[in-house]
Amino acid sequence: MLKASDVEGHAARARSGEEAASAPGPVEFVQGSPADLEDVLTIERLSFAAPWSPQFFLQELADRHSYLFLARLPGELRPVGFICFWLLGPDVHILNIAIHPGFRRRGIGRGLLDFALEYGRARGARQALLEVRRSNDPAIALYEHLGFRLTRVRRAYYMPEQEDALEMRLEF
Ligand SMILES: CC(C)(COP(=O)(O)OP(=O)(O)OC[C@H]1O[C@@H](n2cnc3c(N)ncnc32)[C@H](O)[C@@H]1OP(=O)(O)O)[C@@H](O)C(=O)NCCC(=O)NCCS
Repeated sequence: MLKASDVEGHAARARSGEEAASAPGPVEFVQGSPADLEDVLTIERLSFAAPWSPQFFLQELADRHSYLFLARLPGELRPVGFICFWLLGPDVHILNIAIHPGFRRRGIGRGLLDFALEYGRARGARQALLEVRRSNDPAIALYEHLGFRLTRVRRAYYMPEQEDALEMRLEF
């Protein structure tokens, strides 16, 4: 499993000039494939109490309206985060986003979400939609940070715990 210390070690060596040629730069966003499934599942399982199954990811990978993008640090093969979204006519529908717990609060989630929004906008989308658990303060803060606004509360949407879902929307 990718450890925060692996990348932090890389960053420290780069700062000292040892790895000047591969010094960390901007995070890269690359399209995911079935070969990335294990790494994506690791992040998924570290991020959610009820994680998506491998079959669920494979189903999305096979759907032509569905996109899986990974966030990778320069020089690293393993992703530190992913986003899955549908592009359906005028809508970007965000289905899932997660950042490895060792790499949160570094702007990677914002970068990945921004990338997905731009990807949709460039292909004719006019708005982005998502649902989020009412208790998920970090995700709600991220979405609000990018301009998403609450449109509807769906009572007891998440079962079996009957947690409310907040529907949020961003118009481009
Ligand atoms: C939600 C999540 C993707 C955010 O990823 P991240 O890379 O840590 O977020 P960023 O560093 O890009 O944060 C961007 C902004 O979002 C907000 N934010 C993110 N995490 C936050 C937290 N824990 N508390 C408060 N605000 C937070 C802040 O406004 C932040 O900007 P700032 O750091 O300048 O204050 C990450 O916490 C995660 O993977 N959570 C588990 C999976 C999950 O719940 N996904 C959402 C499902 S709907």
